[in-house]
Amino acid sequence: MTDESWTVALVRQSDVAFARQVAMKAMTAIGASAIKKTKFVTAVSEIARNAVIYGHGGAITFRVVGIGLHRSVVGECTDRGPGIADMQLALKDGYTTGSGLGLGLSGARRLVDRFDIISSAESGTTVTLESAAR
Ligand SMILES: Nc1ncnc2c1ncn2[C@@H]1O[C@H](COP(=O)(O)OP(=O)(O)OP(=O)(O)O)[C@@H](O)[C@H]1O
Ligand SMILES: [Mg+2]
Repeated sequence: MTDESWTVALVRQSDVAFARQVAMKAMTAIGASAIKKTKFVTAVSEIARNAVIYGHGGAITFRVVGIGLHRSVVGECTDRGPGIADMQLALKDGYTTGSGLGLGLSGARRLVDRFDIISSAESGTTVTLESAAR
């Protein structure tokens, strides 16, 4: 068991690469399988990239929750950007207001065991991603 947490500031693209590394380290710490690691790191990458591109920067914090075989990694990504006006639309495959493919949110959602998103114009966007070890 651990009460450690790791926070990565997300300001520029290179910070996304660092967030990926920390996500990998956290998944390794819980003994995650290769496939779960890849899925979680990919989801983190998409969400962190959105925080940089659309959220005017933010931060992502990782922590380990649970005990023994039931441990999982939670990543909470927050930004103080403009928020997402139409959440249902934003979560659709192929929807983008930028120059992307519009697959970041929808893809990330499918890659993790828990996906929560809260967004408002006042408070920005918070995405919570959770993955178990297996
Ligand atoms: N943190 C955020 N703050 C504000 N708007 C966001 C945020 N994340 C996503 N969005 C909005 O939701 C849309 C969909 O995001 P998504 O990640 O699915 O696609 P994308 O970033 O446009 O393209 P891709 O991720 O495939 O390169 C974005 O185009 C943007 O309008
Ligand atoms: Mg995206």
